Formats: sequence, C-alpha cells, structure tokens
Amino acid sequence: MTKFFKLTLISCLSLLMLNGCFWTKEATKTRHDSHSTQTETDSSDKEVTVSARQPQNQEQKKIPVFILLGPPGCGKGTQAQIITTEHNIPQISTGNILRAAIKRETPLGLKVKSITDRGLLVPDDIIINLVKERIAQSDCKNGFLLDGFPRTIAQAKALSNTNIPVNHVIEIAVPDETIIERISGRCIHPASGRTYHICNNPPKRAGTDDITGEPLIHREDDQQETVKQRLAVYHEQTQPLLSYYQQMSQQADNRLCFNTISGVGPIEEIAETVLKILSQEKNV
Ligand code: AP5
Repeated sequence: MTKFFKLTLISCLSLLMLNGCFWTKEATKTRHDSHSTQTETDSSDKEVTVSARQPQNQEQKKIPVFILLGPPGCGKGTQAQIITTEHNIPQISTGNILRAAIKRETPLGLKVKSITDRGLLVPDDIIINLVKERIAQSDCKNGFLLDGFPRTIAQAKALSNTNIPVNHVIEIAVPDETIIERISGRCIHPASGRTYHICNNPPKRAGTDDITGEPLIHREDDQQETVKQRLAVYHEQTQPLLSYYQQMSQQADNRLCFNTISGVGPIEEIAETVLKILSQEKNV
C-alpha cells in the first residue's frame, strides 16, 4: 500500500509539473504572441506615423494637380475622364458644376443660366469662389484635375494665390472647324457629365449612358451659333492663358510643365500622349 501511495504521489507530482510546464509554455507563447502583436502594432503604428507623414512630403512634391486648357469641344472632358481614372483623382469641371446647378435651379444655377446659354463666361468672382470651395473638399487632398478652369487671367491668378502647386498644364489644340463638327454630334449624361459623340465616341446603346443606362441629352449651349460665340470668347479671353502658363513653366524655380498637344486623332492615342506627359516631372 505504501508503495502504491508513493507511486500515486509521484505520478500526481509529475502530472502537476507537466501541467505547470504546459501552462508556463502557453503563458510564454501567449506573451510572445501578444508581444509579437504588440511589436506588429508598434511597427504598424510606426507605419501609420510614417504614412501619416508621407502625404506631407508628397504634398510638397508629387500631389497631382493638372489643368486641361483648350477651346470648347477640344476633348478636355473626354481626356479628363481617362486621366482621373488613371490617377484616381477627382475631375473638377466648372461647366459640369454650373450645369448641375442650372438643372437643380439653385440660386447659382438661376444666376448663370442665361450667361452659359449665350456662350459667355460666368463672372470671375462666382467661378473663383466655386472652385475654391470645391478644391477645399476632402477628396481633393490627394490631387485633382481642373477641366474648364481657369479661363481668364484673373482666374489663373486666383488659383496661383491659393499656393497649390500645379504640376501640368496641357493645351489640347483643335482647329475651329473640327470643333463645330464635333460639338454637333456630342451628347452627354447630365448627372455625371460623361461625354459621347454619335460617331466618334458612341455609347454602347444609342442614346443611353454606358454606366447608368440613363438617357443622354444635347447641351443647351451646343447650338451652332452659340458654339461660334464660345469659340470667339475662347480666343479673346482664354487663349492669353497659354503664354501665361508657358512663361510660368520657364521659371527655373517653378515645377509647372506646360505642353501643347494635338487634339485631332483617335481618343485613345491622344490619351496615351497625355498620360505620358503627366508621368514626367520637372526637377526644381
Ligand atoms: P464647359 O462645359 O467647360 O464647356 P467648354 O470649355 O466649352 O468645353 P466643352 O465641355 O464644350 O468641351 P470639351 O473640351 O470638354 O470637349 P468634350 O470632351 O466634351 O463650359 C460651359 C460653359 O460654362 C461656358 O461656356 C461658360 O459659360 C461656363 N463656364 C465654365 N467654366 C467657366 C469658367 N472657368 N469661367 C467662366 N465661365 C465658365 O468633346 C467634345 C465632343 O467631341 C464630344 O462629343 C466627344 O465625344 C468628341 N471628342 C472628344 N475627343 C475627340 C477626338 N479626339 N476625336 C473625335 N471626337 C472627339
């Protein structure tokens, strides 16, 4: 019996020790795991800190801010859709913003309708405030593309006064006669501003938007006489911006690149040229 008790006691003690070891190991493992997690948390915290810092550096260096310049119908909106998808940045089209306001009959829309219908420019102060408000929104913090702004020297100076560095200004050059032909075949999806052309860039199903299936419309200001008026306004008030930005791009301490490309030819080829230009940076 004594022997039996001794054996039982030894077995119990061994079991207890083994158990103790297991728990110690588990505890160590858990501590190690939690330590690893902690370490990962630490490193991810560090990463967060680093990545939280990165945008600041990028802001000083690489945040894409692009401007498309060119006459009505040169393809700014068409190319803007491709560029903004590629760079994952918002397209800020002053024309689209105004048309949306007109459609909703907001005070801004009511104020500008007769101006845009006649193919004239909306007063600078209205447009400048509108763009300032838009680019202050959070989706613009990683860059944006301006389509249809600036259109006057006063607007360009107001943009310059925001101290947001513009990387690229691209002029899309198209002769006036081509523009008249293009605009007569244009149809748009009013809610998104997506643009089509009945021959050159048709929707998958005639008369409907590719994404939503909603009906496409012709713009009020796309009547031939209004287009001629818009072209005259472009030559008089917007064309001076070409030399304004060209001169700016020649300043050694300005990172802005200015390029003129032909907007005549297949949309995809033009997009290829544009994207290549946008991938290049000027060293300052
Ligand atoms: P806005 O909407 O900006 O008009 P716009 O500058 O006249 O330009 P469009 O939108 O007509 O043409 P687009 O260059 O975008 O060409 P798209 O890609 O559509 O402004 C409208 C009005 O708002 C102004 O008149 C003014 O009143 C007011 N406004 C706006 N901004 C203002 C500002 N900053 N200051 C004051 N007032 C302001 O292409 C045209 C057609 O061609 C399409 O059908 C397209 O599918 C087709 N197409 C495109 N590329 C090609 C190609 N390579 N080959 C063949 N067809 C093509």
